[in-house]
Amino acid sequence: MSEQQGMSRRTLLVKVGIVLNGIVGAALAVPILRFLLSPVTREKKFGYESWLSLGGLEQFPAGQTRLATYRNPVVNSWDGETGDIACWVRNVDDQTFQVFAINCAHLGCPVRWFPQSSLFMCPCHGGAYYQDGSRASGPPERGLFQYKHKLEDGKIFIKAGEMPTPGRTANTKRGGTTCA
Ligand code: FES
Repeated sequence: MSEQQGMSRRTLLVKVGIVLNGIVGAALAVPILRFLLSPVTREKKFGYESWLSLGGLEQFPAGQTRLATYRNPVVNSWDGETGDIACWVRNVDDQTFQVFAINCAHLGCPVRWFPQSSLFMCPCHGGAYYQDGSRASGPPERGLFQYKHKLEDGKIFIKAGEMPTPGRTANTKRGGTTCA
């Protein structure tokens, strides 16, 4: 084999290697880009921004906290009952409402409402929250997460698909629209 033939074979192998590396790089980049762009694309594509009704206001009497459920708007057909998500609705005075995520702010166990003590209690590690969702005791470092919500046409709606996150407060006055 001449030196020139060796060089051209080496050059060819280098070029093939570059092409293969490019293909692998592109294959790895696609999921990363999809993840990075998901906050922009998911809202339009899958209904993350859906307002879903939790029912008529008559189901949530003033001064009471009641359990409600909604269907996850981004559910798959095979999800079955796991697509039904529970939350707690508090009607403070018929004017102001709060909607709490059912999951404890510690590790996510479902909290239960005890009207006798006006506390939400977590069965997993004893976390407790006051009726306004603020932390009372136990391991949770913060209060219950709250949904954005609005009152419209005699119903209460939540911004479903957008799970409550830290830094958001969510009191809504009757006649208002969205909570900050
Ligand atoms: S998950 Fe609720 S206190 Fe730990």
